[in-house]
Amino acid sequence: MHRLPGVRERLEDEYTRIEQMVRTRLHPYEGEMPTFTRLPERGIPQQQVLEWMTRLRERETPAWQTGHVSGTVYHGGEEHAAFLSQVYALHGQSNPLHADLFPSTVKFEAEIVAMTASLLGAHPIDDPSGGRGSHQTENDGEQGSYQTDPDLQIVGTVTSGGTESILLAMKTYRDWGRAERGITQPEVVAPVTAHPAFDKAAHLFCIRLIRTPVDNQFRADVKAMRRAITRNTVALVGSAPSYPHGAIDPIPQIAALAQEHRIGLHVDACLGGFILPFIERLGYPVPPYDFRVPGVTSMSVDPHKYGYTPKGLSVVLYRGRALRRYQYFTYTDWPGGLYASPTLPGSRPGALSAAGWAAMVTLGESGYLEAARRIMETATTVRQGIEAIPELRLMGVPLFLIAFTSDSLNIYEVLDRMAARGWRLVALQRPPGAHFAITLRHTQPGVAEQFLNDLRSAVNEVKQGKATSKQSEGMAPIYGMANSLPFRGVIDEVLHRYLDALYDL
Ligand SMILES: Cc1ncc(COP(=O)(O)O)c(C=O)c1O
Repeated sequence: MHRLPGVRERLEDEYTRIEQMVRTRLHPYEGEMPTFTRLPERGIPQQQVLEWMTRLRERETPAWQTGHVSGTVYHGGEEHAAFLSQVYALHGQSNPLHADLFPSTVKFEAEIVAMTASLLGAHPIDDPSGGRGSHQTENDGEQGSYQTDPDLQIVGTVTSGGTESILLAMKTYRDWGRAERGITQPEVVAPVTAHPAFDKAAHLFCIRLIRTPVDNQFRADVKAMRRAITRNTVALVGSAPSYPHGAIDPIPQIAALAQEHRIGLHVDACLGGFILPFIERLGYPVPPYDFRVPGVTSMSVDPHKYGYTPKGLSVVLYRGRALRRYQYFTYTDWPGGLYASPTLPGSRPGALSAAGWAAMVTLGESGYLEAARRIMETATTVRQGIEAIPELRLMGVPLFLIAFTSDSLNIYEVLDRMAARGWRLVALQRPPGAHFAITLRHTQPGVAEQFLNDLRSAVNEVKQGKATSKQSEGMAPIYGMANSLPFRGVIDEVLHRYLDALYDL
């Protein structure tokens, strides 16, 4: 007698389907290139390896180079990339852990931090006004002290990416809370839209992360944050802007709350830190978000996004030298010697800092300003085009990252149809939506227009109920499931299987 498949069997079938889909996507070169599960007995000639590498690069480059991908590669210009590779090669052996051997990396990293801080409201020594911006801060009129007063100085360290910067800031507040307030069960309050790196930090450092709702523009609900504060709260979090919707949280209000409770405020400007200052200078309305706002005590900023440096470079900044101390790790009793490291890893690639520094000084303010101008012009075209499609609706008030949804169509089906046309957008959930982060790749002639043409066609197809040619490979069913299933464990299992698939040969 046949038994109807139970929930468990149906789930297993669904898992298998998703696994197969993920596998074909993540391992597309099977059969095309040898697979190594152990070292080759004899080394393979360099020429052969270079041939393989070139082939892989040629397969993977067009999608982002032609501007079909949201975010991801923020500059990608051939000349810029070739120059950075040249600098990387020059410093390929350097390791900042051995600062005495490679003092050039000390110079590069200290200057990366100083240049980044000066963009975000720290006053450079030779120009107390910072040459920009008009937000009033309680420190106006005493700017000189920014450089001399250790409590006001904006200091920081270089890290490997936005996640590490956020992890370190959260560890810093945990240790600050313990040392200065006797808080042994630290809590951090963050809007639901803040990056999952905050959850990762909470998980790793035994912090309780309290997520609070956002308003109808996807900005932090400050009242909800106020209600979430307890005597164990060590810090609040805001984003400038948030990854999902590109919304800038009301930083001055959150900062006032932080000051009232004498706790930290971390502003996550991983995405915005290298573009918002220039968007502001271009005259677009940018609400206050950086160290010019009293009460902002730390920031994470990613040169490896809109700073156009190679991947693997971020900066974490603090107001005051004392706060940065809580980030450091030192060990004095190791037989291997005295050990001191400012961030999470030990050895690090000094070449990344060399290339990052080189990107910053070759682009200069004028380069970043021009890039921001082009990006904002393209973003305006894309935004207006989306606004003109009746089935779509913008989510929040976009600047350079445009989030949208649909009240009448399944937005994930629209995304799948865009994928079939070669476009890679980001799917949002809770509520369903999509976003497209505009980069320099999209400012190439015709890209925005092509995007909008394809978006209109995709919407029309979904409206007419046309099936995609490869329905079973689309993301719509997975996101449909993620949005509708109350059992997060099932989705979690899918994610774990995805991670397994990364390393399964
Ligand atoms: C707002 C924001 N914060 C943090 C991160 C994490 O950065 P990373 O991927 O470099 O670790 C991102 C990445 O997109 C981001 O957009």
